Amino acid sequence: MIPLCEPNLDGHELAYLTQCVQTNFVSSVGAFVGQFEQNFAAFLGVPHAVAVSNGTAAIHLALVLLGIGPGDEVWVSDFTFAASINPILYLRARPVLVDSELETWNLDPKLVVAELKRRDRLGLPQPKAILAVHIVGSPLQLHEIAQVCWQFHVPLVEDAAEALGARYTTGPLAGRQVGSIGDIGCFSFNGNKIMTTGGGGMLVTADAQLAARAKHLSTQAKEPGYAYFHDEIGYNYRLTNVAAALGVAQLERMDHFLEAKRAIAKRYDTAFADLAGVRLPPRPADTAPTFWLYSLLFAHGWLGPLQWLEARGIQSRPLWTALHRMPPYRDCARLGSGLVAEELCDQGLSLPCSVHLTLAQQDEVIAAVRQYVLKS
Ligand SMILES: Cc1ncc(COP(=O)(O)O)c(C=O)c1O
Repeated sequence: MIPLCEPNLDGHELAYLTQCVQTNFVSSVGAFVGQFEQNFAAFLGVPHAVAVSNGTAAIHLALVLLGIGPGDEVWVSDFTFAASINPILYLRARPVLVDSELETWNLDPKLVVAELKRRDRLGLPQPKAILAVHIVGSPLQLHEIAQVCWQFHVPLVEDAAEALGARYTTGPLAGRQVGSIGDIGCFSFNGNKIMTTGGGGMLVTADAQLAARAKHLSTQAKEPGYAYFHDEIGYNYRLTNVAAALGVAQLERMDHFLEAKRAIAKRYDTAFADLAGVRLPPRPADTAPTFWLYSLLFAHGWLGPLQWLEARGIQSRPLWTALHRMPPYRDCARLGSGLVAEELCDQGLSLPCSVHLTLAQQDEVIAAVRQYVLKS
């Protein structure tokens, strides 16, 4: 079986894990946690990074930090993994599902900007936050949204769980990494992400107070000192030293991981460019996407190609189900028709793209996809 997307642990991972075991620092205290946070902040070009137990926890904390509570409106992409929206619902806030644009697969900036401006004109309340997702490594066109959010004092959280390493290359955000632009950025290091800590996440921000409070809340809101004194309701969202050790090792190799993902995407793009009925993944203007999961849109749906590939020992996976189609989110308010989200979810299929996928394996995937499309 050629797997969809496996971790690559060929660097210093084992050495650093061994250090954890030999020193007995396997839990949430240990030098790797601080080191991982520092190195991550430097990689991203942000002042503060707080390591947490997973990406969902990072999003949950971000919303808590912004004071989101029952009844508050939070806008989020309709086309995303459920982990983006669930923390909104943990807080009994009210998600509004924003449709995507085909150019980037991310929430449509035109919808967002027009609605924020309309509300301003009419003196209507603005959302309490916008949770902007960068889907499968494709950067969201964030510049205009960020400007309007600042203008109307709407906090902007970036869910960059799937897009670590994607950046803006030209235009007003040139040189900035995704996740570093909003008030808070959230990342995931789950097993199949571009880098992994087994399970883990990171919250980043330029605001020292927000960062300190994130750390405090992630450690059960326990005050420093000998006494077990908690000044508010906190969470056990800490990252372990073992996970952080993996993170430090993986981050050392991010440049290689990014190069490998982009090389695979380039090869696949070239191989599939002439296929009718297949659309290539987005390459949003002014950005360098990561192609975390290299995904195609098949005009006749993802199930046929998935089964064809499976029968040939090639693992693939559909993209996310549009949130509005699933029971917990069916009754959420919506911005836009949701038709683009449905198109992406009906047609999108991710192909094998582990960073160590060999050229021969890539050729196998290419041949199988081409056979499927040309016979259909
Ligand atoms: C868009 C998005 N947001 C949030 C998450 C949550 O991350 P985690 O699985 O680490 O909780 C994920 C992925 O897992 C994701 O794809």
